[in-house]
Amino acid sequence: MGIVEAREIIKGAKTISVLTGAGISAESGIPTFRGAGGLWGKYRPEELATPSAFARDPELVWRWYNWRRGIIVKANPNPGHIALARAEVSREVIIITQNIDGLHQKAGSKRVIEFHGSIWRVRCIECGCETENMEVPLKKIECECGGLLRPAVVWFGEPIPDQVLQASFEAIGECDVLLVVGTSAVVQPAASLAMLALDMLKKVIEVNLEATPISNVVDISIRGKAGEVLPQIICG
Ligand code: OAD
Repeated sequence: MGIVEAREIIKGAKTISVLTGAGISAESGIPTFRGAGGLWGKYRPEELATPSAFARDPELVWRWYNWRRGIIVKANPNPGHIALARAEVSREVIIITQNIDGLHQKAGSKRVIEFHGSIWRVRCIECGCETENMEVPLKKIECECGGLLRPAVVWFGEPIPDQVLQASFEAIGECDVLLVVGTSAVVQPAASLAMLALDMLKKVIEVNLEATPISNVVDISIRGKAGEVLPQIICG
C-alpha cells in the first residue's frame, strides 16, 4: 500500500534525502539492533557501546567490533542500497545513514553522511588522530603515540559531531522528499530528522517491516522489505 503514490512523489522530486537505519542492511546479512534477532537482545549496550565500557574493558569492546567487522566485511549491498545509488543518475540524492557498515558507498552512493561514524575508521583516545583501518580483526589497539585506538563511531551518551549534524540539517532543508528506511526511529537525534522534515513541510515516506513511532505522522508509510520496496518506488 502506498507504492504507487510514493513512486509518483519520488518521480517529481529534484532532490531526495534518505535517512537509513539497520533495517536497510538486514537483507545483506547484518543483524539489526532491535526486534527479533536484534543485537541489543543478546548484548547490553552499556557494556559495549559506551565510553565507560571502553575505559573499563577495551579488549571486550574490540572483540565485539571485530566480530561485527567480520560480518560486515563479507556483506554486499542489496537491491535497496543499489536502488538508492541508481537514483543519483537522474536527481540529487543525499543519504544520512545511522549505519556504520559503508554499504551505501559500496553500492556507489556519492553523498553519504555517516551519522554514527564508520566501523572502518579508528580514532586514538589520546591524540585524537583518525585513520581508515580495514583489518579484520584489528591487529593492534595502540596508536603510535601510545594511546588506545577506539572505533570512530558514536556511542551512547556521545554527541553527534557538529559538522555532521549541520550537514544533516542542510540535507533535510535541501530535499523535496525524505525517505526514512529501516530505522526503528527511537534513537535521537537521528529520529528527530524525520520530524524536522515534516515541520519543514517536506514529503516524508517511510519504508519499514513494522510500524514505528513515526508511522502515523508521515505522509506515506509502506510496510515491506527495503530491498523489495525501494526498487519499486525509485524508478530511473
Ligand atoms: P534498529 O535495529 O533499532 O531498527 C531496525 C529497523 O529496521 C526496525 O524498525 C525493523 O522493523 C526494520 N527492518 C528490519 N529489517 C528490515 C528490512 N529488510 N526492510 C525494512 N525494514 C527493516 O536500527 P536503527 O534504527 O538503525 O546506534 O538503530 C538506530 C541506532 O541504534 C543505531 O545506529 C545504533 C543503535 O544503537 C549506535 O550504535 C549509536
